[in-house]
Amino acid sequence: MTLGTTREAAPSTGGRVSTDWWRSAVVYQLYIRSFADGNGDGVGDIPGIRAHLGHLVDLGVDAVWINPWYPSPMADAGYDVSDYRAIEPAFGTAAEAAAMVGEAHAAGLRVLLDIVPNHTSAQHVWFRDAVAGDAAARARYIFRPGRGDGPPNDWKSVFGGRAWTQVPDGSWYLHLFDPGQPDLDWINAEVVTEFESILRFWFDRGVDGFRIDVAHGLAKAPGLPDVGDEPEELLSGGHRPDHPFWDRDEVHEIYRGWRRVADSYPDPKVFVAEAWVGSSERLLRYLRPDELHTAFNFPYLNAAWDAAALRSVIDDSLETFSTIGAPATWVLSNHDVVRHVSRLGRPHGDGGRHSLATLPPVETLDRELGTRRARAAAVLMLALPGSAYIYQGDELGLWEVEDLPDEVRQDPTWERSGHTDVGRDGCRVPIPWSGTAVPFGFSPPDATAAPWLPQPADFSGVTVAAQAADPGSMLALYRAALHLRRTHPALGGGGEPAWRDAPDGVLRFDREPGFSCIVNLSAAPTALPAGAQILLASAALTAAGELPVDGAAWLQLA
Ligand code: NOJ
Repeated sequence: MTLGTTREAAPSTGGRVSTDWWRSAVVYQLYIRSFADGNGDGVGDIPGIRAHLGHLVDLGVDAVWINPWYPSPMADAGYDVSDYRAIEPAFGTAAEAAAMVGEAHAAGLRVLLDIVPNHTSAQHVWFRDAVAGDAAARARYIFRPGRGDGPPNDWKSVFGGRAWTQVPDGSWYLHLFDPGQPDLDWINAEVVTEFESILRFWFDRGVDGFRIDVAHGLAKAPGLPDVGDEPEELLSGGHRPDHPFWDRDEVHEIYRGWRRVADSYPDPKVFVAEAWVGSSERLLRYLRPDELHTAFNFPYLNAAWDAAALRSVIDDSLETFSTIGAPATWVLSNHDVVRHVSRLGRPHGDGGRHSLATLPPVETLDRELGTRRARAAAVLMLALPGSAYIYQGDELGLWEVEDLPDEVRQDPTWERSGHTDVGRDGCRVPIPWSGTAVPFGFSPPDATAAPWLPQPADFSGVTVAAQAADPGSMLALYRAALHLRRTHPALGGGGEPAWRDAPDGVLRFDREPGFSCIVNLSAAPTALPAGAQILLASAALTAAGELPVDGAAWLQLA
């Protein structure tokens, strides 16, 4: 039976046990702060998730990945964890989290959490003890004496500025991200043991897996040598072999240990790596059979809206991953990058530059064009073999909110870049659910606070309620595509794609049995194969029955 063709309870609730559901799963990235606010304080929370699980079921996804929900001072929106075994009070309670996991399972959804192993919060008890002078605690982090009056080496923080901060006794600690996120020292056995225990803590509570934050950053070169000159880019990794902190070979031993933990459970527990590395060969190393199950395929996210570029990424990913039988994983957006409507709607459909600091200015954005391309990009992505990630709001066609007032910005990038990079808040604006006025159903009617980031007035046209009633909406397209993906035998775990001849700028591949996907990235409408029946199209055909520019369709072949 093809995986995911029917919706049944997830294994931990006693339903069908499919050991490899993750190979073709569609996973919904739930950015908790911005998904739905149940208690009216303007911040999304677990009661909000519980009230809206129906949206995910109607959408037709297989699993959710919830961004960090642990206690945190929020120096980096929860990626600064102060207690890995508890729930941030602003998001809810442990009991609510347990109930949510149970309800998701009963609705047929698997639940992935986010684990943040590269760094803790500076408020984590380990780090507080370390700063207070406890030697054992200090040895869990990377403290070093300075070089002269300056820091121990030349490493820069991903958010801007140097990667070292001095403590009162004169020594410095490493933070590849914000000073509120001190890097752990993974050479220390206590760190290794602690994280394996954290994994077990959540697995024992029914969680089905983890997205691993900065999976490529945990190991640092002995002696912490200078990195020298290199382009500074958010979360960039793997620029050169033997980089002092990105994608070092030593990280793999950590994941072998994690895999042993996962495999000690009878139902499958899975990992997806956030690993920004230099090539698919490097990525493959994370997916060896005794390491992680999947890793985000960022080259697809980075690809320009160009037939040759997309085809080459697809071929490269499928070929490379198939050498070890790992599934490819497709993703268009997440909470760290400019929403793809706003990337693809810029000149050249620039995919590779995904921060507002490097993209062409907003005056060059054609949002209608970006939306058209986003529809086609989703249709293409969901036709590919492997697993796919949908970032909340993709299904509504949300765009980057580029005119947030400076005073509401919360991404540390804004401050640390000296106000030269506005950062990632524009893709994190709360979801519009219903109604015609702020907060568009994000918070309850009696809310005491406005949404933590202001929603633009034109969200009123793209609420879930408005789109659910419109068969031509982005939401309707996603629902139809995900329904077909579950029911069509060629999709999800079906046959391998085979490219077919097509005019320049047009991509067409077939999958057995009888399925074809066609995407028109050329400058003119393109004919469909004779006798094909349209299963789904991102855009209306032209009067001559052709697929318009920037359109994509799924076809049943005669
Ligand atoms: C990657 C996360 O996706 C991002 O949001 C965060 O800022 C960094 N890792 C640091 O944890």
